[in-house]
Amino acid sequence: MAGRSITILGATGSIGLSTLDVIRRHPGRFSVYALTAGTRAEELAVLCREFRPKVAVMADGQAAQKLAELLSDLPDISVRSGESGLCEVAAAPQACTIMAAIVGAAGLAPTLAAVRAGKRVLLANKEALVMSGKLFMDAVSASGAELLPIDSEHNAIFQCLPADKVRDPDGAGITRILLTASGGPFREHSGESLRSVTPAEACAHPNWSMGQKISVDSATLMNKGLELIEACWLFNMTPDRIEVHVHPESIIHSMVEYADGSVLAQLGSPDMRTPIANGLAWPERIDAGVAPLDLFSIGRFRFERPDLLRFPCLRLAAEAFEAGGTAPAVLNAANEIAVAEFLKGNLAFTDIPIVIEKTLAATPVVPADSFDIIFAKNSEARQQAREQIALLTV
Ligand SMILES: NC(=O)c1ccc[n+]([C@@H]2O[C@H](COP(=O)([O-])OP(=O)(O)OC[C@H]3O[C@@H](n4cnc5c(N)ncnc54)[C@H](OP(=O)(O)O)[C@@H]3O)[C@@H](O)[C@H]2O)c1
Repeated sequence: MAGRSITILGATGSIGLSTLDVIRRHPGRFSVYALTAGTRAEELAVLCREFRPKVAVMADGQAAQKLAELLSDLPDISVRSGESGLCEVAAAPQACTIMAAIVGAAGLAPTLAAVRAGKRVLLANKEALVMSGKLFMDAVSASGAELLPIDSEHNAIFQCLPADKVRDPDGAGITRILLTASGGPFREHSGESLRSVTPAEACAHPNWSMGQKISVDSATLMNKGLELIEACWLFNMTPDRIEVHVHPESIIHSMVEYADGSVLAQLGSPDMRTPIANGLAWPERIDAGVAPLDLFSIGRFRFERPDLLRFPCLRLAAEAFEAGGTAPAVLNAANEIAVAEFLKGNLAFTDIPIVIEKTLAATPVVPADSFDIIFAKNSEARQQAREQIALLTV
């Protein structure tokens, strides 16, 4: 294989596998330099056999040993481990494009390594940008990295903006961004019934097939809160100019409203291979393997306002962004811990926002002056969230 050389951080996940599916459709156009995963060595070994990367990294040391055993007949693949291994492949000169698709705060250090090395960074790992906001965008400017959004909403907005004014809304004549949301699996649930919903129900998204964490985030609307913050940083917008529209069909992936009254939208089947292909080939267009949109069978589009009473996570995210400094990093950390406990069956769905709100209240906001401060607050907030969960569940 030759062509544009890609590293996929989080290759075994939902976004990682969709990325590899697009790459598989274009032999000769892309080559794979490195693939990484967290703990699932067997899954990564299967991908290594097909895509033959030069390097494979497991974040977990024991999993790396297992991967090395599984790939012992393929000595050309170098197996590495740990965060240092992830950062090394993210910055390595052999790859020009990095798909940042690790889930959660664990993705920040490797994604940042790719940014600092001036790569084309395909950003799926929204948590990295939410945590570090201005510091992250400053690092992009300093290195000249090419940051392309993969979140379907942000990729849609990106496609609806003039290419030379992605971070200049006033210069582009933009009045608002209309950020669409599916509403998740519990859009029509009463507030009372939300208390007893199960992890399996929360992960059964009506339109999108995704990893567990983002599925729960979609169900609580925290995903939209994280995306609101992400959109502010990516497009240099303020939250008062971004309006969330619940659009249960998930066909319009977001819209940009201009001063002359025009509203530009990007539409497509709810399939992440579209924004992934857009990022991989940008500014060209390539086949993503996505079914053509059949508007006749969809019939109509609905739009609703989000219900912040039943889904307070969206409000909490907007408040954390307004508070600034380290507040978004604390919000993200508390959410990750609460969602993990919900998925294990240790926390009620409706306790997720309570844990986040209490963690935010108990963790003083300080200026986000360095990445060291962000990493320290992330650790502090995780500990605080665990304590809040212990208090709630006694
Ligand atoms: N899925 C979607 O449709 C979608 C859409 C928009 C944005 N995103 C964003 O894309 C990111 C990935 O989402 P996903 O749904 O693809 O998640 P996922 O299916 O859970 O996959 C996560 C990937 O990250 C790896 N990973 C987990 N913990 C890690 C750690 N501590 N260190 C290194 N690697 C680790 C996993 O490896 P193992 O397999 O070994 O655990 C896996 O490869 C998230 O930030 C999400 O918000 C996803």
